Amino acid sequence: MSEQKKFKRTLVTTALPYANGPVHIGHLAGVYVPADIYARYLRLKGQEVLLVGGSDEHGVPVTIRARKEGCTVQDVVDRYHNLIKKSFEDFGISFDVYSRTTSETHKKHASDFFKKLNDEGKFIELESEQYYDEEAKEFLTDRNIRGECPRCHAADAYGDQCEKCGSTLSPDELINPYNAVTGNKLVKRSTKHWYLPLDQYQGWLEQWILNEHKEWRSNVYGQCKSWLDTGLKPRAVTRDLNWGIPVPVEGAEGKVLYVWFDAPIGYISNTKELLPDTWETWWKDPETRMLHFIGKDNIVFHCIVFPAMLKAHGEYNLPDNVPSNEFLNLEGDKISTSRNWAVWLHEYLEQIPNKQDVLRYVLTANAPETKDNDFTWKDYQARNNNELVAIYGNFVNRATVLTHKYFEGKVPERHELTEGDKQTLAEFAEVRKQVEALLDVFRFRDAQKEAMNLARIGNKYLADNEPWKLAKTDMSRVETIMNICLQIAANLAIVFEPFLPFSSAKLRKMLAMGDADWNILGSIDILPAGHAIEKPELLFDKIEDDVIEAQMKRLEDIKKANEAENYKPEPVAAEVDFETFEKVDIRVGKVLDCQKVPKADKLLQFKIDDGMGGRTIVSGIAKYYNPEELIGKEVLFIANFAPRKLKGVESQGMILSAVDADGKLVVCGPTATVKPGSKVS
Ligand code: MF3
Ligand code: ZN
Repeated sequence: MSEQKKFKRTLVTTALPYANGPVHIGHLAGVYVPADIYARYLRLKGQEVLLVGGSDEHGVPVTIRARKEGCTVQDVVDRYHNLIKKSFEDFGISFDVYSRTTSETHKKHASDFFKKLNDEGKFIELESEQYYDEEAKEFLTDRNIRGECPRCHAADAYGDQCEKCGSTLSPDELINPYNAVTGNKLVKRSTKHWYLPLDQYQGWLEQWILNEHKEWRSNVYGQCKSWLDTGLKPRAVTRDLNWGIPVPVEGAEGKVLYVWFDAPIGYISNTKELLPDTWETWWKDPETRMLHFIGKDNIVFHCIVFPAMLKAHGEYNLPDNVPSNEFLNLEGDKISTSRNWAVWLHEYLEQIPNKQDVLRYVLTANAPETKDNDFTWKDYQARNNNELVAIYGNFVNRATVLTHKYFEGKVPERHELTEGDKQTLAEFAEVRKQVEALLDVFRFRDAQKEAMNLARIGNKYLADNEPWKLAKTDMSRVETIMNICLQIAANLAIVFEPFLPFSSAKLRKMLAMGDADWNILGSIDILPAGHAIEKPELLFDKIEDDVIEAQMKRLEDIKKANEAENYKPEPVAAEVDFETFEKVDIRVGKVLDCQKVPKADKLLQFKIDDGMGGRTIVSGIAKYYNPEELIGKEVLFIANFAPRKLKGVESQGMILSAVDADGKLVVCGPTATVKPGSKVS
């Protein structure tokens, strides 16, 4: 892409994850793997690049987490910052700096940024009425306000949403609002905040995005357009909260910078922390290009709010592109930290050790670049076994094993090429161009597909030429074939380096080829004749069914636990008087025999000692019990229930069961032995 030439260096930023929980596959797929692929690619080409990241440690989410866990906010952010940082290291995300928004450098830098804008009159100050807890002496955020829903009258709707009826609410609509944490009643109190008048940037943003950045991904461009079409309004950049960076203005006690004001400034502070003397080159030199890698819920902040802040500040570069992804779902459901519906990166590595690259590969192959996508464990297994093992690993293995078999592990000479060789090399020469063209426009999944295509070319070449058959008759030909195979293997190590860094390192070691260099990609002279390679090792191994089944089981258990947690008992039925109740004759019976009813998979047939000569009852609980486990048990049954025929068997009564949260039926009985026939009242 010619456009790249204008730039001397590239600053790649990655959304700062909230330090309120561990990171999961959605984070990796949406932001960190693509950003890492891109940064590695530029570095391999010898370009100047910085990959900047860090944890977002302010805002309400971390404070909610602290309350839930009963510890201090500092404890929460310390713990998760370290866990997140380690997960990224473990997955090979090649950050040049990974810091945090509670660092001193950041607090000072964000505070100065605000001060400069305030001093220059770039904000407007507005008073508004907000809910206040007089006893706790705090203003409340929407999520921390609860009250009666104005629509469905559920007792405990949130200030932004009613979970019962799904309505979007504002705190003002709640009936009898109270503090979700203290339970105190709330009053309205006037409070002052600083607003960034985005409306004043509307015209400039329209020009800059809609006219000058038509090349942005259509999902990003489209979201910006719809925000701009609606018309921008001033946005508050401060909050009444006791966690965050204090508003650096006299008389602003108890107020902090809004998390979405301070966090993106973290990109600047973290660069500064890494390069105290030269950071400005990365932020102010027009020859530096800036890219923000983010998820789709962050688009408005990175394309509209932060650029307006940067523009207001006046000294910093604007982003050149914002390659935002859509969302990754997990087995058909939205990933959710609060519902524990996720594959956590640290847990993945504990449960399936050393398979970083497999996950990187699968997440890139399924990257939600243009639409939401789904991660499934079956697909994970299939991509590993049918692609990484069967195509890439298999080719490398055959190339290296045959080299040891025929040439004592030394790269053989290449002699005259056949037409077939030339054709393979021509196809092979295309790969670099294709991969580059795709990476340059942030199409990572297609780029990885092209890289895999090189392994396909290698496999086909081996299958077409069958060197193992020629070994007895034409050793000179075998030399040429194996030379070409080894050059392809060396090229694979380079082309996969941005995508699968761990496997590439392993392959480079196997081929004894030193560091990767993108600039020699496409060469057929990477490994000189006579060069000794090391012992072959498997690059990837098959993932067996039990590994996948264990993961599916884990998710099933989480689903069950969530269902149980969300369980709300059925509403109580209409009132009845004692006489009506007495009409139902409930008795204790002892199960003498219990069997499946033939050709009815739901029914069990009971022989009950009812103290009155015995009776037969049929009950629809076969799914939940083995017949034998009920024999000898005492159960409750309705003795005066009108007899009816079920699958040809007459049932003389009804056995009582409780319905559990997941729909499971549990037979009810007395808590101590009682004579069969005893009345229940
Ligand atoms: N913490 C935010 C989120 O997870 C992202 C912040 S990105 C930054 O959605 F630019 F503000 F840092
Ligand atoms: Zn409601």
